Amino acid sequence: MIEVNKLINLFKKPAKKRKINKIDDTRIPSHIAIIMDGNGRWAKARQLPRTFGHKAGVEALRDVIKTASNIGVKYLTLYAFSTENWSRPQDEVSALMQLLVDYLKKEVGELHSNNVRINTIGDIEGLPRIAKIEVKNAKALTKSNSGLCVNIALNYGGRDEIIRGIKKLYKDVEDGLSIENLQVEEFAGYLDTTNIPDPDLLIRTSGEYRFSNFLLWQSAYTELWFTETYWPDFRGEDLIGAIVDYQNRTRRFGGI
Ligand code: FPP
Repeated sequence: MIEVNKLINLFKKPAKKRKINKIDDTRIPSHIAIIMDGNGRWAKARQLPRTFGHKAGVEALRDVIKTASNIGVKYLTLYAFSTENWSRPQDEVSALMQLLVDYLKKEVGELHSNNVRINTIGDIEGLPRIAKIEVKNAKALTKSNSGLCVNIALNYGGRDEIIRGIKKLYKDVEDGLSIENLQVEEFAGYLDTTNIPDPDLLIRTSGEYRFSNFLLWQSAYTELWFTETYWPDFRGEDLIGAIVDYQNRTRRFGGI
C-alpha cells in the first residue's frame, strides 16, 4: 500500500527551477545605468541632515565602481544630478556640487590607474565653474583609458537631452542635411550618449518605481531592476544580485 507521505508528494507542485546564484561572466551586461535614490531617507532614518546621506552615497559609488570594473562591465551610467535637482534647497545643491568636486579631486588618480574612463552626459556648461573644471580635468586625464567607462549624468534630463539633440540636428538641416528618411540610429547620434550602447540593465534603489527623466530614449528595451535598499547601503554584492537576475531573463526586443 502506498504511504500517505508519498501520496502527498505525488500531488505537490514540482519544485521551482532554482535560480542560478552564480554570475555568468560570459554574459555580463555591457551597460548598466543606476538611479542612486534614497540618500535623503537614509539620513532621515538616522536623524542626520540629508547631505550626510549624499556623503554616505559616495561610499556606495566607490564600491559599485570597483565591482563593475572588476567583472568587466563596459559602461556604468550614474544619475548624479538631474535638471530638476536645481529646485532643491541651495544648501543641498551646493553640498552635492562640492561632493562631486571632492570626489573627483580625491579619486580620479586611482580611477585613472585602474584604467577607468570618466565621461558625462547632460549639459555640463550649466554646472558651477569649479565643478565644470574638475569634470573637464577628469575627462581629459582618463580619455584614453580602455576599461570601465563611468558615465556621470550631471545637469541631465532625458527630455532636455532630446531637445538639445533636436537643436543640433536642426543646425545640420540648415546646413543641408535631409531628414526625409531619418533613422532611429541616426537621431541617437545627436544625443549625449553618442557611441554608447543603450543600457542593458537599469537599477533604481530605495523602492521607487519611476524613470524620473533618466535615459528616456535609450531605455526603450532596457531591463529594469528595483530594490528597497537605500543607495548608501547598496554595495557591489547588490550589483551582482541584480546582474544574476538579469541573466535569468529572456530579452526579446519586441520579437518572440
Ligand atoms: C537621490 O537621493 C540622490 C541624488 C539626487 C544625488 C546622488 C548623489 C550621490 C550618490 C553622491 C555624489 C555623486 C557623485 C558622482 C560624487 P535623494 O536625495 O532624492 O533621496 P530621497 O529620495 O531619499 O530624498
